[in-house]
Amino acid sequence: MEFFKRTVNCGILRHSDAGTQVVLNGWVHRKREHGGISFINMRDRYGITQVVVDAHAPPELAALAAQVHNEYCIAVEGTVRERPPAMVNPEMPTGAIEVAAQKIVVLNSASVLPFQIDEESNANEELRLKYRYLDLRSGGMQNRIRLRSAVTFAVREWMHAQDFYEIETPTFVKSTPEGARDYLVPSRLYSGKFYALPQSPQLYKQLLMAAGFDKYVQIARCYRDEDARGDRQPEFTQIDIEMSFVSRDDILTMTEELLGSVFKKTLNLELPAHFTRLSYHEAQERYGTDKPDLRFALPLQDFSAFAERSSFSAFKDALAQGEAQKAAGLAQGITIAGGAVKVLVVSGGAGYSRKQIEELEAQAKIYKAKVFAWMKVAGTSGEPVLEGGAAKFFATQAGEIVKTLGAQAGDLLVMTADAKRRIANNSLGAVRSKLGKDLGLCDPDKFEWVWIVDFPLFEFNEEEGHWEAAHHMFSYPQERYHASLESDPGAVIGDLYDLVLNGCELASGSIRIHEPVLQKRIFTLLGLDPAEAEEKFGFLTTAFKFGAPPHGGIALGFDRLVMLMAGQTSIKEVIAFPKNSFALSPLDDCPSEVTAEQLQDLHIMLKDKKDKH
Ligand code: AMO
Repeated sequence: MEFFKRTVNCGILRHSDAGTQVVLNGWVHRKREHGGISFINMRDRYGITQVVVDAHAPPELAALAAQVHNEYCIAVEGTVRERPPAMVNPEMPTGAIEVAAQKIVVLNSASVLPFQIDEESNANEELRLKYRYLDLRSGGMQNRIRLRSAVTFAVREWMHAQDFYEIETPTFVKSTPEGARDYLVPSRLYSGKFYALPQSPQLYKQLLMAAGFDKYVQIARCYRDEDARGDRQPEFTQIDIEMSFVSRDDILTMTEELLGSVFKKTLNLELPAHFTRLSYHEAQERYGTDKPDLRFALPLQDFSAFAERSSFSAFKDALAQGEAQKAAGLAQGITIAGGAVKVLVVSGGAGYSRKQIEELEAQAKIYKAKVFAWMKVAGTSGEPVLEGGAAKFFATQAGEIVKTLGAQAGDLLVMTADAKRRIANNSLGAVRSKLGKDLGLCDPDKFEWVWIVDFPLFEFNEEEGHWEAAHHMFSYPQERYHASLESDPGAVIGDLYDLVLNGCELASGSIRIHEPVLQKRIFTLLGLDPAEAEEKFGFLTTAFKFGAPPHGGIALGFDRLVMLMAGQTSIKEVIAFPKNSFALSPLDDCPSEVTAEQLQDLHIMLKDKKDKH
């Protein structure tokens, strides 16, 4: 086939190019006929150029112009000319010119399209993923993939300038308990043995510190067998970082500088030199979550004192139960927070209908709030009056409540209570998030960053009755808790930090344990018996015996970062070939069955067909 190699791309021609002879290669984006003239908008990665086949064109050219349809891949040779003034399109970078075609070559035809290629596709997600290569042709996807590439480059540029080494860690690793379920790869050579795909390079980057590499970075693929959600994929990418001889503040500052440079280079946005910091405790108390969206205020306030003084038994019972649990904990030397009643003041919310309030309640109940209540602030003159819902229990305290909470007539007070302070906080935090969205408080053009620091090191798994690592098992307990690790695990604060952007957990990290004895104490506390700990993590604790340096690090969710930079709410929008919400790829139908021979090679026998799904 005759092939005309392009001399210019479809985004570059301007007024000053008029009169030049060019060859364009690209796709038919749109075609229209007007008064015997064919207008073909030709598209490539760089832009769109209008190609014109004039009314007096030779019959072969006119026939070819009639033959091509949307998404045909074509080459066009022609002359650049100024558009008539009435046809100039200031919206298009190439809008001042058009190319008068002399020759058109069809490089490949296109079948009837499953969906129209527009700026943004409005086809359903399955279809978009099945024909992802077409979906990727849309302007929106092209822009986002370009942004992703630019962010990758900006990250590498900054990290290399700061003397980080980029080091690859293995993709076939030992299966270790790290939070989510591992993806396993059966070994052909060793029957019954498996490699795991890494959930993160965590252990390897710590070993790189033991090896003396000092500053490590990797744009690393990670694999986690967990349910996919908007901001989660089974395989995803992290900007994974580790440094030796650093304090927590060194890591936080380094991350702020990295992001500052990336945002400046790619979006031309100045970030604040330092991001706000909140302790985990403050975040929970004020926003009911460790991922607060700080684009809006709407803080949670403590209502417990008013509840105590009221006759509202649902609240009082929750608090009494909380007190009893706290006392029982104290008797065993364990710190338990007790109960709480928390309140949100929804400005102007007195107009909420019963249905709207029920929706808020439903949201709180997802997070297991035992009690949900509400009341409205009324009274146009003089003393404020509380009305509706739980108001009758608080009539005598109305003035003080309204004053202390800073509420006004016309506001709605929404409350949750539970014997567990965390549940009261988290359930009202969920109501806060819903209100933020419902009331349009989340400005899509704003970036609000917050570090959450001083996390508890351990969480108690009530269902299984044991302590678990809140982040992972390698994070350093702050020095002052070393003596009481085993006696009061619930009170131990670790040197852990998360970076939250607009309510999304963007990054997570910690200062690590580098002493074998301390690491073993943590394993024991988490219920790993010494033999199991040795079998799973012996290679790490052994490395620590040979002068491993103090170290710490962080991993940024790369897909989430680009998603937020691109103003999207799903990471699928910034990944070229993502899986769907069921961890499937409609494009190539993966995962798929394999042959009996392959299974035999891998020493695998399937139970029966039914079990395979
Ligand atoms: P963590 O498990 O918190 O920490 O992960 C770090 C960041 O990775 C992103 N992330 C994900 N993104 C997309 N899909 C997923 N399934 C997914 N899971 C996590 C999040 C998260 O903040 N090794 C530690 C880091 C360290 O301590 O240095 C780790 O992996 O943005």
